[in-house]
Amino acid sequence: MLKNKLILLGITGGIASYKSAELARLLVKEGANVQVVMTRNAEAFISPLTMRALTGHPVYNSLFDPAHGTATVHIDLARDPDLVLVAPATANILGKMTAGIADDLLSTVLMAVKTTKCPVILAPSMNTAMLQNPAVRNNINVLRKRGFIVADPLEGNLACGDVGKGRMVEPAGLLELVKEELAAREDLQGLTFLITAGPTRESLDPARFFSNYSSGRMGYALARAARERGGHVILISGPTVLEPPSGVDFFPVVSAREMYDIVMEKLTLAHIIIKTAAVADYRPEETFPQKLKKGDDLILKLVRNPDILKEIGTKKGKIYLVGFAAETENILDNARKKMEEKNLDLIVANDLCQEGAGFNHDTNIVSLLYKDGSVESLPLMSKDELSHQILDRIKKFRKK
Ligand code: CTP
Repeated sequence: MLKNKLILLGITGGIASYKSAELARLLVKEGANVQVVMTRNAEAFISPLTMRALTGHPVYNSLFDPAHGTATVHIDLARDPDLVLVAPATANILGKMTAGIADDLLSTVLMAVKTTKCPVILAPSMNTAMLQNPAVRNNINVLRKRGFIVADPLEGNLACGDVGKGRMVEPAGLLELVKEELAAREDLQGLTFLITAGPTRESLDPARFFSNYSSGRMGYALARAARERGGHVILISGPTVLEPPSGVDFFPVVSAREMYDIVMEKLTLAHIIIKTAAVADYRPEETFPQKLKKGDDLILKLVRNPDILKEIGTKKGKIYLVGFAAETENILDNARKKMEEKNLDLIVANDLCQEGAGFNHDTNIVSLLYKDGSVESLPLMSKDELSHQILDRIKKFRKK
């Protein structure tokens, strides 16, 4: 299950770091790609060459390594890992993380990693007296509250000759923990999500189109979140400036009718459909092959586009169908009507007039309306966080 997973292994300067070599070997054996970051003190215990030989990758240990292609090695390393593991984690690194100190590569990488995006496991290792120090105990509690996973040190013989709590969890135990944490984040494995995003453009002539303010951010955030949790994602998007998230099947479209065609083609593949797209309800009756020249007042006739979601609603079978409602008044009533008309399981209602909600923001404020008539209002949050909340609800309420 670790095949192709990118694991960032941080090693700090404790005697248990000799076990990090075995840990790296086990991870690599399970198919993981292991990228090691060592502190200077770790290098006093174990050689970077050993770690390089075991992982097949150069070891990073400096914020300012000219061999690295960019000057932001800490950000580059924090961007993509599926999991971060610091083993051993000394009292020093725990203290730095708690206090927000970033004075070397590892502490800086750890500051740039988001625990909501990828699990971070810390495997402390130290003498019992140090572990019982109120500062260390407090740091561990704080880090747990912030979402870090702490592998509780074990009882046993310590390097200093004492017997007590403080031994790092053995490599085999840490490997199991890595697998558990990755499995927990892959709770959507086996499910195919069809997600539509962005606006559509309805062409008038080669120079002009009708569209709306949708940025695509909500749909892309949902696609990214579903992918991160192991789902297979088909993302069908109107024109946006966003990069499609890695690992999704991406189908760019322009008009509502193009979106309709591809949605209908892929429909049967999906277990869950989420329609965040702001589909243009109308298009010009005529699309002119040449640029229209200005003259007197221009009267254009707009004709209706297909209502993609409504059509899916008539043929959805077992598909769990989620719509979005963009409203400016009577939010809940209008959303409820759309839910019934389009035969939805869940509708996410947006008030476009609220500060921090709707199009072109990184945040959103929504209410979730369920089939049984219940309503759940969520506070302002980032579209990434909201995506996870919506996926949690889908997971809970969808019948297999
Ligand atoms: N939708 C769709 N096809 C359309 C219009 C909307 O699939 N032609 C979907 C949207 O993707 C969204 C939901 O229907 O999930 C509601 O879209 P919204 O624009 O809020 O409402 P409309 O149904 O277009 O109704 P109105 O514009 O009258 O509010």
